[in-house]
Amino acid sequence: MTTEPRRILLAVTGGIAAYKVPEIVRDLQRDGHEVRCAMTRSAARFVAPLSLQVLTGATVRQDLFDPSEEGEIDHIRLADWADLIIVAPATAHILGRMSHGLADDLVSSVLLATRAPILVAPAMNVNMWHHPATQANLDVLRERGIHFVGPGVGELACGWEGEGRMADPEEIAAQARRLLGSDSLAGETVLITAGGTAEPIDAVRSITNRSSGKMGFALAEEAAHRGARVCLVAGVTALPTPAGVERVDVETAMEMREVVLAQLDSASIVIKAAAVADFRPEVREEQKIKKASLESQDGITLRLVTNPDILAEVCAQKGDRLVVGFAAESEDVVQSALRKIKQKGCDLLVANDISRADAGFNVDTNSVYLITPDGEIEEIPLSSKREVAAQVLDRVEKLRNEKPR
Ligand SMILES: Cc1cc2nc3c(=O)[nH]c(=O)nc-3n(C[C@H](O)[C@H](O)[C@H](O)COP(=O)(O)O)c2cc1C
Repeated sequence: MTTEPRRILLAVTGGIAAYKVPEIVRDLQRDGHEVRCAMTRSAARFVAPLSLQVLTGATVRQDLFDPSEEGEIDHIRLADWADLIIVAPATAHILGRMSHGLADDLVSSVLLATRAPILVAPAMNVNMWHHPATQANLDVLRERGIHFVGPGVGELACGWEGEGRMADPEEIAAQARRLLGSDSLAGETVLITAGGTAEPIDAVRSITNRSSGKMGFALAEEAAHRGARVCLVAGVTALPTPAGVERVDVETAMEMREVVLAQLDSASIVIKAAAVADFRPEVREEQKIKKASLESQDGITLRLVTNPDILAEVCAQKGDRLVVGFAAESEDVVQSALRKIKQKGCDLLVANDISRADAGFNVDTNSVYLITPDGEIEEIPLSSKREVAAQVLDRVEKLRNEKPR
């Protein structure tokens, strides 16, 4: 996917999974990337620096104060050299140091000094992983835009079973490729909607849904990484704007419709991942409805009216645009989605099973079906939303090859 060779620093910390690092190095080298390694003092107990030196053809940096290495590439130069830094395996300890901005060795100093994207592959005992301290560190790091891959669930080297296994080397390399970006969507303008809408009842209350916007934001981030110009129409969400993405905030379905139709002319790909309310209260009270008035009337009746179907309107003006719809289904997922794609006329429908606790609304993972108008069904098993976004865009690129502009 990446078009030109890039410089990747692999920072190895002290976990048993360090023995898998040579596989990550080789995988990235196969793409033509230049890989260098740095390691913590503990990491050198698990994997021989010499192995990584032979594989990479470069000195493995370990010591912040090593006079023999000074002047060659110091930690700042290493931080600046990298287009991407991968921390694998990432110990609970390095997550703590990163979240607190500590820089007491070469690896932590490089991580603090770099401006390159950082991909972290945690690996640890299940109880270390679930410890509130580790989880709090993860929250801080995610908030700062650090990327994560894994950990997976399974039998752990320590004898426990559960979450904490480092992601497979191929998965780490695949995620690294994505972060390095490509130009596979260069020249395309992608209009993406994300998040839920809020339909006001009165001055303070509204009807909304549990959509977090994470899927749509992951799509926006991924499309921007692939070189597209991205316009993100965001409904109700607390998420930060992904780098390189233009964002317009809206609240109601009617506002979302207005912005989408206004942006449609410039869009070559439209992805409608927002959870748009099907209904809105017919009347929006200007003032807050008083509790006393509800009591005196023994409750009130809200009359709901249908919101416009934005996806159908976009499909009606499709031209040579590619249009991707999302369907949140709680039962009969595939059959309902097949009916929906025929009704709407989009090029691809991504069907979510929202009855699952680990997929759909407000979680970091998703499991979807990709459905085409001719009835082709591809299942994407439970993956991070970023991974699902990548697979949706891979399919969009394939459709574009079949249907050039
Ligand atoms: C045999 C052994 C295996 C270990 N495996 C892990 C591990 O998988 N994950 C982890 O977070 N810590 C693990 N540790 C603990 C770390 O090595 C320890 O916290 C160390 O201080 C990490 O330092 P570093 O983050 O600077 O590499 C292990 C320790 C030992 C002795």
